Amino acid sequence: MIGLNEKDSQLYIDNVSLGKIAEEFGTPTYVYSASHIRAQYQKLQSSMAKALPKNRQPLLCYACKANSNLAILKLLQNEGAGLEIVSEGELMRGLAAGFDPQKIVSTGVGKQASEIANALEAGIRQFNVESLPELEHIQQIAAAMNQSATVVFRLNPDVSGGGHHKISTGRKRDKFGISREQVFKGFQMAKDMSHIHAVGLSMHIGSQVFTVETFRHAFEKLPEIVAALRAEGHTVSRLDIGGGFPIVYKDEKLLDFDAYATWVNDIIVPLETDIIMEPGRYMVGNSGILLNEVLYIKETADRNFLILDGAMNDLIRPTLYEAYHDIEAVRKSGKGTKTYDIVGPVCETGDTFATDRELPETQAGDLIAIKSAGAYGFSMASNYNTRPLPAEILVDGDEYAVIRPRQTLEECLRNDIIPEFLQK
Ligand code: LLP
Repeated sequence: MIGLNEKDSQLYIDNVSLGKIAEEFGTPTYVYSASHIRAQYQKLQSSMAKALPKNRQPLLCYACKANSNLAILKLLQNEGAGLEIVSEGELMRGLAAGFDPQKIVSTGVGKQASEIANALEAGIRQFNVESLPELEHIQQIAAAMNQSATVVFRLNPDVSGGGHHKISTGRKRDKFGISREQVFKGFQMAKDMSHIHAVGLSMHIGSQVFTVETFRHAFEKLPEIVAALRAEGHTVSRLDIGGGFPIVYKDEKLLDFDAYATWVNDIIVPLETDIIMEPGRYMVGNSGILLNEVLYIKETADRNFLILDGAMNDLIRPTLYEAYHDIEAVRKSGKGTKTYDIVGPVCETGDTFATDRELPETQAGDLIAIKSAGAYGFSMASNYNTRPLPAEILVDGDEYAVIRPRQTLEECLRNDIIPEFLQK
Protein backbone atom coordinates (compact mmCIF):
# COMPACT_ATOMS: atom_id res chain seq x y z
CA MET A 1 0.00 0.00 0.00
CA ILE A 2 1.13 3.53 -0.70
CA GLY A 3 0.57 6.27 1.84
CA LEU A 4 -2.24 6.47 4.38
CA ASN A 5 -4.57 3.47 4.24
CA GLU A 6 -6.92 1.44 6.40
CA LYS A 7 -6.56 -2.24 7.28
CA ASP A 8 -8.57 -4.19 9.89
CA SER A 9 -10.22 -0.94 11.05
CA GLN A 10 -6.86 0.69 11.76
CA LEU A 11 -4.89 3.39 9.98
CA TYR A 12 -1.55 2.52 8.40
CA ILE A 13 1.10 4.41 6.51
CA ASP A 14 2.23 2.03 3.81
CA ASN A 15 2.45 -1.30 5.70
CA VAL A 16 3.15 0.07 9.15
CA SER A 17 0.34 0.65 11.64
CA LEU A 18 0.15 4.07 13.23
CA GLY A 19 -0.69 2.38 16.54
CA LYS A 20 2.66 0.65 16.47
CA ILE A 21 4.47 3.90 15.69
CA ALA A 22 2.76 5.68 18.59
CA GLU A 23 3.72 2.85 20.91
CA GLU A 24 7.33 2.93 19.83
CA PHE A 25 7.96 6.64 19.49
CA GLY A 26 5.20 8.41 21.41
CA THR A 27 3.13 11.37 20.23
CA PRO A 28 2.80 13.99 18.79
CA THR A 29 4.77 12.59 15.86
CA TYR A 30 4.87 13.31 12.15
CA VAL A 31 4.74 10.18 10.01
CA TYR A 32 5.50 10.31 6.28
CA SER A 33 5.23 7.82 3.45
CA ALA A 34 8.35 7.64 1.29
CA SER A 35 6.51 5.76 -1.44
CA HIS A 36 3.89 8.50 -1.65
CA ILE A 37 6.55 11.18 -2.14
CA ARG A 38 8.27 9.12 -4.80
CA ALA A 39 4.96 8.54 -6.57
CA GLN A 40 4.16 12.28 -6.55
CA TYR A 41 7.53 13.13 -8.05
CA GLN A 42 7.10 10.49 -10.72
CA LYS A 43 3.53 11.58 -11.52
CA LEU A 44 4.59 15.16 -12.16
CA GLN A 45 7.64 14.06 -14.10
CA SER A 46 5.71 11.66 -16.31
CA SER A 47 2.96 14.22 -17.08
CA MET A 48 5.71 16.50 -18.32
CA ALA A 49 7.51 13.69 -20.15
CA LYS A 50 4.31 12.89 -22.04
CA ALA A 51 3.51 16.46 -23.08
CA LEU A 52 6.89 18.14 -23.58
CA PRO A 53 9.64 17.38 -26.08
CA LYS A 54 12.69 15.50 -24.77
CA ASN A 55 15.00 18.51 -24.87
CA ARG A 56 12.49 20.67 -22.93
CA GLN A 57 11.90 18.47 -19.90
CA PRO A 58 11.72 20.69 -16.80
CA LEU A 59 14.13 20.57 -13.90
CA LEU A 60 11.88 19.89 -10.90
CA CYS A 61 13.37 21.94 -8.08
CA TYR A 62 11.65 20.81 -4.88
CA ALA A 63 10.69 23.84 -2.76
CA CYS A 64 12.13 22.49 0.44
CA LYS A 65 10.46 25.03 2.73
CA ALA A 66 7.53 22.58 2.55
CA ASN A 67 9.48 19.90 4.39
CA SER A 68 13.22 20.16 4.69
CA ASN A 69 14.11 17.05 6.69
CA LEU A 70 17.36 15.67 5.27
CA ALA A 71 15.79 12.24 4.70
CA ILE A 72 13.03 13.76 2.55
CA LEU A 73 15.63 15.78 0.63
CA LYS A 74 17.75 12.68 0.08
CA LEU A 75 14.72 10.76 -1.15
CA LEU A 76 13.97 13.42 -3.76
CA GLN A 77 17.62 13.84 -4.66
CA ASN A 78 17.70 10.09 -5.36
CA GLU A 79 14.82 10.64 -7.78
CA GLY A 80 16.85 13.24 -9.67
CA ALA A 81 15.13 16.37 -8.32
CA GLY A 82 16.70 19.80 -8.04
CA LEU A 83 16.06 22.13 -5.12
CA GLU A 84 14.55 25.57 -4.51
CA ILE A 85 16.01 27.25 -1.43
CA VAL A 86 15.15 30.42 0.46
CA SER A 87 17.91 30.61 3.04
CA GLU A 88 21.46 29.71 3.91
CA GLY A 89 20.10 26.95 6.12
CA GLU A 90 18.22 25.40 3.23
CA LEU A 91 21.38 25.62 1.10
CA MET A 92 23.26 23.74 3.81
CA ARG A 93 20.53 21.12 3.93
CA GLY A 94 20.58 20.73 0.14
CA LEU A 95 24.34 20.29 0.04
CA ALA A 96 24.24 17.88 2.99
CA ALA A 97 21.64 15.79 1.17
CA GLY A 98 23.96 15.61 -1.84
CA PHE A 99 22.16 17.85 -4.34
CA ASP A 100 24.21 18.91 -7.34
CA PRO A 101 24.64 22.69 -6.77
CA GLN A 102 23.86 23.19 -10.46
CA LYS A 103 20.36 21.96 -9.67
CA ILE A 104 19.80 24.47 -6.84
CA VAL A 105 17.96 27.76 -7.33
CA SER A 106 17.90 30.48 -4.70
CA THR A 107 14.73 32.56 -4.27
CA GLY A 108 13.36 35.02 -1.71
CA VAL A 109 13.04 38.79 -1.28
CA GLY A 110 15.65 39.19 1.45
CA LYS A 111 18.80 37.35 0.46
CA GLN A 112 21.52 38.14 2.96
CA ALA A 113 25.19 38.71 2.22
CA SER A 114 26.41 35.44 3.73
CA GLU A 115 23.65 33.56 1.99
CA ILE A 116 24.61 35.02 -1.40
CA ALA A 117 28.31 34.38 -0.77
CA ASN A 118 27.76 30.77 0.28
CA ALA A 119 25.51 30.10 -2.69
CA LEU A 120 28.14 31.56 -5.04
CA GLU A 121 30.83 29.52 -3.35
CA ALA A 122 28.75 26.36 -3.76
CA GLY A 123 28.17 27.19 -7.44
CA ILE A 124 24.36 27.12 -7.50
CA ARG A 125 22.44 27.24 -10.75
CA GLN A 126 20.85 30.67 -10.34
CA PHE A 127 19.56 33.44 -8.13
CA ASN A 128 15.94 34.44 -8.75
CA VAL A 129 16.27 38.18 -8.21
CA GLU A 130 13.38 39.98 -6.53
CA SER A 131 14.52 43.63 -6.56
CA LEU A 132 17.08 45.88 -8.21
CA PRO A 133 18.94 46.62 -4.94
CA GLU A 134 19.30 42.85 -4.55
CA LEU A 135 20.83 42.67 -8.05
CA GLU A 136 23.38 45.31 -7.04
CA HIS A 137 24.11 43.44 -3.83
CA ILE A 138 24.76 40.19 -5.69
CA GLN A 139 27.05 42.02 -8.16
CA GLN A 140 29.05 43.50 -5.27
CA ILE A 141 29.51 40.17 -3.53
CA ALA A 142 30.25 38.26 -6.75
CA ALA A 143 32.84 40.88 -7.75
CA ALA A 144 34.55 40.66 -4.36
CA MET A 145 34.70 36.89 -4.74
CA ASN A 146 35.58 37.10 -8.43
CA GLN A 147 32.75 34.74 -9.26
CA SER A 148 30.07 35.13 -11.90
CA ALA A 149 26.47 35.06 -10.63
CA THR A 150 23.80 33.69 -12.93
CA VAL A 151 20.48 35.44 -12.34
CA VAL A 152 16.91 35.45 -13.55
CA PHE A 153 14.41 38.18 -12.67
CA ARG A 154 11.18 37.30 -10.90
CA LEU A 155 8.31 38.95 -12.70
CA ASN A 156 5.29 40.03 -10.68
CA PRO A 157 2.40 39.44 -13.11
CA ASP A 158 -0.23 41.15 -10.92
CA VAL A 159 -2.42 38.06 -10.80
CA SER A 160 -4.01 36.63 -7.71
CA GLY A 161 -3.30 32.92 -7.31
CA GLY A 162 -3.48 30.64 -4.34
CA GLY A 163 -5.84 29.24 -1.79
CA HIS A 164 -5.54 31.91 0.93
CA HIS A 165 -4.62 35.60 0.81
CA LYS A 166 -1.56 34.98 3.00
CA ILE A 167 -0.08 32.59 0.43
CA SER A 168 -0.94 34.51 -2.74
CA THR A 169 2.27 36.06 -4.05
CA GLY A 170 1.62 37.38 -7.56
CA ARG A 171 -0.41 40.54 -6.95
CA LYS A 172 1.02 43.98 -7.54
CA ARG A 173 0.67 44.80 -3.85
CA ASP A 174 2.63 41.69 -2.77
CA LYS A 175 6.30 42.00 -1.84
CA PHE A 176 7.33 39.49 -4.50
CA GLY A 177 8.88 39.99 -7.92
CA ILE A 178 9.29 43.13 -9.99
CA SER A 179 7.21 44.84 -12.64
CA ARG A 180 7.69 44.41 -16.39
CA GLU A 181 9.35 47.82 -16.50
CA GLN A 182 11.82 46.91 -13.76
CA VAL A 183 12.63 43.61 -15.47
CA PHE A 184 13.81 45.59 -18.49
CA LYS A 185 15.77 47.93 -16.24
CA GLY A 186 17.32 44.92 -14.47
CA PHE A 187 18.47 43.33 -17.71
CA GLN A 188 19.93 46.68 -18.78
CA MET A 189 21.76 47.13 -15.46
CA ALA A 190 23.03 43.56 -15.63
CA LYS A 191 24.63 44.26 -19.00
CA ASP A 192 26.94 46.78 -17.35
CA MET A 193 27.70 44.59 -14.35
CA SER A 194 31.01 42.76 -14.44
CA HIS A 195 29.98 39.66 -12.48
CA ILE A 196 26.30 39.18 -13.36
CA HIS A 197 25.02 36.92 -16.07
CA ALA A 198 21.28 37.52 -16.62
CA VAL A 199 19.64 34.63 -18.42
CA GLY A 200 15.91 34.66 -17.91
CA LEU A 201 12.77 35.13 -15.86
CA SER A 202 10.91 33.42 -13.07
CA MET A 203 7.37 33.57 -11.82
CA HIS A 204 5.54 32.05 -8.85
CA ILE A 205 2.00 33.27 -8.29
CA GLY A 206 1.01 31.47 -5.11
CA SER A 207 0.20 28.17 -3.49
CA GLN A 208 -2.77 25.80 -3.90
CA VAL A 209 -3.48 26.97 -7.46
CA PHE A 210 -6.31 24.78 -8.75
CA THR A 211 -6.86 25.72 -12.36
CA VAL A 212 -4.77 25.89 -15.50
CA GLU A 213 -6.70 29.11 -16.18
CA THR A 214 -5.09 30.83 -13.17
CA PHE A 215 -1.62 29.87 -14.37
CA ARG A 216 -2.52 30.86 -17.92
CA HIS A 217 -3.73 34.27 -16.81
CA ALA A 218 -0.29 35.04 -15.32
CA PHE A 219 1.99 33.25 -17.73
CA GLU A 220 0.40 34.38 -20.96
CA LYS A 221 2.24 37.64 -20.36
CA LEU A 222 5.55 35.88 -20.91
CA PRO A 223 5.76 35.45 -24.71
CA GLU A 224 5.46 39.18 -25.35
CA ILE A 225 7.98 40.08 -22.64
CA VAL A 226 10.46 37.43 -23.76
CA ALA A 227 10.20 38.64 -27.37
CA ALA A 228 10.67 42.29 -26.33
CA LEU A 229 13.70 41.44 -24.17
CA ARG A 230 15.28 39.48 -27.01
CA ALA A 231 14.58 42.34 -29.41
CA GLU A 232 16.65 44.53 -27.09
CA GLY A 233 19.49 42.03 -27.32
CA HIS A 234 19.02 40.33 -23.94
CA THR A 235 19.43 36.60 -23.36
CA VAL A 236 16.35 34.71 -22.23
CA SER A 237 17.40 31.09 -22.10
CA ARG A 238 15.72 30.03 -18.83
CA LEU A 239 12.17 30.28 -17.52
CA ASP A 240 11.40 29.24 -13.97
CA ILE A 241 7.63 28.76 -13.82
CA GLY A 242 7.43 28.26 -10.05
CA GLY A 243 5.31 25.93 -7.95
CA GLY A 244 1.86 26.19 -6.42
CA PHE A 245 0.44 22.79 -7.38
CA PRO A 246 -2.37 21.80 -5.07
CA ILE A 247 -3.12 18.78 -2.88
CA VAL A 248 -6.32 17.50 -1.30
CA TYR A 249 -7.13 18.70 2.19
CA LYS A 250 -10.90 18.15 2.04
CA ASP A 251 -12.66 17.49 -1.24
CA GLU A 252 -10.83 19.83 -3.61
CA LYS A 253 -10.84 19.09 -7.30
CA LEU A 254 -7.18 18.96 -8.18
CA LEU A 255 -5.31 20.60 -11.00
CA ASP A 256 -5.39 18.42 -14.09
CA PHE A 257 -1.67 17.82 -14.60
CA ASP A 258 -2.02 16.57 -18.12
CA ALA A 259 -3.90 19.74 -19.05
CA TYR A 260 -1.27 21.80 -17.21
CA ALA A 261 1.55 19.99 -19.03
CA THR A 262 -0.18 20.54 -22.37
CA TRP A 263 -0.50 24.20 -21.52
CA VAL A 264 3.22 24.42 -20.66
CA ASN A 265 3.91 22.77 -23.98
CA ASP A 266 1.73 25.31 -25.82
CA ILE A 267 2.86 28.52 -24.08
CA ILE A 268 6.31 27.97 -22.58
CA VAL A 269 7.98 25.45 -24.91
CA PRO A 270 7.72 27.68 -28.04
CA LEU A 271 9.86 30.25 -26.20
CA GLU A 272 12.77 27.81 -26.53
CA THR A 273 14.21 28.07 -23.05
CA ASP A 274 15.24 25.66 -20.35
CA ILE A 275 12.31 25.16 -17.97
CA ILE A 276 12.42 24.99 -14.17
CA MET A 277 9.53 24.21 -11.84
CA GLU A 278 9.38 24.62 -8.04
CA PRO A 279 6.81 22.23 -6.56
CA GLY A 280 6.72 22.06 -2.77
CA ARG A 281 3.42 21.10 -1.17
CA TYR A 282 2.50 18.76 -4.02
CA MET A 283 5.51 16.53 -3.39
CA VAL A 284 5.00 15.96 0.31
CA GLY A 285 1.67 17.36 1.56
CA ASN A 286 -0.47 14.24 1.38
CA SER A 287 2.44 11.99 2.35
CA GLY A 288 2.26 12.80 6.02
CA ILE A 289 0.05 12.92 9.08
CA LEU A 290 0.48 14.33 12.55
CA LEU A 291 -0.18 11.53 15.02
CA ASN A 292 -1.64 12.62 18.37
CA GLU A 293 -2.99 11.06 21.51
CA VAL A 294 -6.19 12.27 23.15
CA LEU A 295 -5.30 13.58 26.62
CA TYR A 296 -8.78 14.46 27.83
CA ILE A 297 -12.35 14.62 26.68
CA LYS A 298 -13.86 17.77 28.05
CA GLU A 299 -17.59 18.12 27.79
CA THR A 300 -19.06 21.55 28.46
CA ALA A 301 -22.60 22.80 28.16
CA ASP A 302 -21.90 23.83 24.55
CA ARG A 303 -19.12 21.72 23.17
CA ASN A 304 -17.29 18.40 23.29
CA PHE A 305 -13.58 19.07 23.23
CA LEU A 306 -11.00 16.48 22.29
CA ILE A 307 -7.82 17.77 23.88
CA LEU A 308 -4.84 16.34 22.03
CA ASP A 309 -1.17 16.26 22.99
CA GLY A 310 -0.34 17.91 19.63
CA ALA A 311 -0.88 21.65 19.35
CA MET A 312 -0.60 24.74 17.18
CA ASN A 313 3.16 24.83 17.75
CA ASP A 314 3.40 21.42 16.02
CA LEU A 315 1.05 22.25 13.14
CA ILE A 316 0.17 25.91 12.79
CA ARG A 317 -1.77 25.87 9.51
CA PRO A 318 -5.29 25.76 11.00
CA THR A 319 -4.46 28.66 13.33
CA LEU A 320 -2.59 30.77 10.79
CA TYR A 321 -4.61 30.24 7.61
CA GLU A 322 -7.88 28.80 8.96
CA ALA A 323 -6.70 25.76 7.00
CA TYR A 324 -8.86 22.65 6.89
CA HIS A 325 -7.17 19.34 7.74
CA ASP A 326 -9.08 16.12 7.66
CA ILE A 327 -8.96 14.32 11.02
CA GLU A 328 -9.43 10.61 11.62
CA ALA A 329 -9.38 8.18 14.50
CA VAL A 330 -6.49 5.74 14.14
CA ARG A 331 -8.53 2.81 15.47
CA LYS A 332 -12.14 2.69 14.38
CA SER A 333 -14.17 1.76 17.45
CA GLY A 334 -17.37 0.61 15.78
CA LYS A 335 -19.32 2.62 18.38
CA GLY A 336 -21.48 5.57 17.50
CA THR A 337 -20.13 8.94 16.44
CA LYS A 338 -20.02 12.25 18.23
CA THR A 339 -19.28 15.83 17.23
CA TYR A 340 -16.06 17.26 18.63
CA ASP A 341 -13.94 20.38 18.62
CA ILE A 342 -10.36 19.17 18.32
CA VAL A 343 -7.89 21.32 20.20
CA GLY A 344 -4.36 21.34 21.59
CA PRO A 345 -3.09 22.20 25.07
CA VAL A 346 -1.66 25.65 24.20
CA CYS A 347 -3.09 28.59 26.09
CA GLU A 348 -4.88 30.26 23.17
CA THR A 349 -8.32 29.74 21.73
CA GLY A 350 -6.57 29.80 18.36
CA ASP A 351 -5.01 26.46 19.27
CA THR A 352 -7.88 24.68 17.55
CA PHE A 353 -7.32 22.14 14.79
CA ALA A 354 -10.98 21.83 13.88
CA THR A 355 -14.51 22.48 15.09
CA ASP A 356 -17.66 20.42 14.74
CA ARG A 357 -16.03 17.27 13.40
CA GLU A 358 -17.82 13.99 13.56
CA LEU A 359 -15.60 11.19 14.87
CA PRO A 360 -16.20 7.77 16.40
CA GLU A 361 -16.91 8.15 20.08
CA THR A 362 -13.49 8.72 21.57
CA GLN A 363 -11.77 8.09 24.89
CA ALA A 364 -8.66 9.48 26.52
CA GLY A 365 -5.67 7.54 25.19
CA ASP A 366 -7.12 7.09 21.68
CA LEU A 367 -4.97 8.10 18.73
CA ILE A 368 -5.98 10.79 16.27
CA ALA A 369 -4.39 11.43 12.86
CA ILE A 370 -4.40 14.94 11.42
CA LYS A 371 -4.05 14.37 7.70
CA SER A 372 -2.31 16.17 4.82
CA ALA A 373 0.33 17.43 7.24
CA GLY A 374 3.45 16.53 5.26
CA ALA A 375 3.93 20.05 3.87
CA TYR A 376 4.39 23.18 5.99
CA GLY A 377 3.83 21.09 9.11
CA PHE A 378 7.08 20.31 10.85
CA SER A 379 8.89 23.00 8.83
CA MET A 380 6.71 25.67 10.50
CA ALA A 381 6.73 24.10 13.97
CA SER A 382 8.01 26.07 16.96
CA ASN A 383 8.79 25.73 20.64
CA TYR A 384 5.88 27.92 21.76
CA ASN A 385 4.87 27.13 25.35
CA THR A 386 8.29 25.40 25.64
CA ARG A 387 6.91 22.39 23.89
CA PRO A 388 9.62 20.24 22.30
CA LEU A 389 9.50 19.79 18.52
CA PRO A 390 7.74 16.55 17.57
CA ALA A 391 9.49 13.43 16.27
CA GLU A 392 9.49 12.61 12.55
CA ILE A 393 9.24 9.07 11.19
CA LEU A 394 9.65 7.97 7.58
CA VAL A 395 7.88 4.80 6.44
CA ASP A 396 8.85 3.05 3.22
CA GLY A 397 6.76 -0.05 2.53
CA ASP A 398 7.51 -2.36 5.46
CA GLU A 399 10.43 -0.31 6.73
CA TYR A 400 10.42 2.73 8.96
CA ALA A 401 12.96 4.92 10.67
CA VAL A 402 13.21 7.95 12.91
CA ILE A 403 14.34 10.81 10.70
CA ARG A 404 14.32 13.26 13.58
CA PRO A 405 13.97 12.29 17.22
CA ARG A 406 11.62 14.21 19.46
CA GLN A 407 13.42 17.25 20.83
CA THR A 408 14.26 16.97 24.51
CA LEU A 409 13.37 19.57 27.12
CA GLU A 410 17.10 19.97 27.83
CA GLU A 411 17.53 20.96 24.18
CA CYS A 412 14.72 23.50 24.51
CA LEU A 413 16.40 25.19 27.47
CA ARG A 414 20.03 24.73 26.50
CA ASN A 415 20.56 28.02 24.70
CA ASP A 416 18.96 30.39 27.17
CA ILE A 417 21.40 32.38 29.30
CA ILE A 418 20.74 34.15 32.58
CA PRO A 419 23.17 37.11 32.49
CA GLU A 420 25.52 37.71 35.35
CA PHE A 421 23.80 40.95 36.40
CA LEU A 422 20.71 38.92 37.31
CA GLN A 423 22.61 36.29 39.28
CA LYS A 424 22.05 37.83 42.67
N1 LLP B 1 8.56 28.82 -5.18
C1 LLP B 1 8.47 29.93 -4.46
C2 LLP B 1 9.22 31.12 -4.88
C3 LLP B 1 7.68 29.97 -3.30
O1 LLP B 1 7.59 31.08 -2.58
C4 LLP B 1 6.95 28.80 -2.92
C5 LLP B 1 6.13 28.79 -1.70
C6 LLP B 1 7.08 27.65 -3.71
C7 LLP B 1 7.89 27.70 -4.83
C8 LLP B 1 6.38 26.37 -3.38
O2 LLP B 1 5.00 26.53 -3.43
P1 LLP B 1 4.07 25.23 -3.30
O3 LLP B 1 4.35 24.36 -4.51
O4 LLP B 1 4.40 24.55 -2.06
O5 LLP B 1 2.68 25.76 -3.30
N2 LLP B 1 3.06 27.99 4.59
C9 LLP B 1 2.02 28.05 3.59
C10 LLP B 1 2.56 27.96 2.19
C11 LLP B 1 3.60 29.01 1.86
C12 LLP B 1 4.19 28.92 0.50
C13 LLP B 1 5.35 29.84 0.34
N3 LLP B 1 6.01 29.78 -0.92
C14 LLP B 1 0.99 26.95 3.87
O6 LLP B 1 1.15 26.23 4.85
O7 LLP B 1 0.01 26.83 3.15
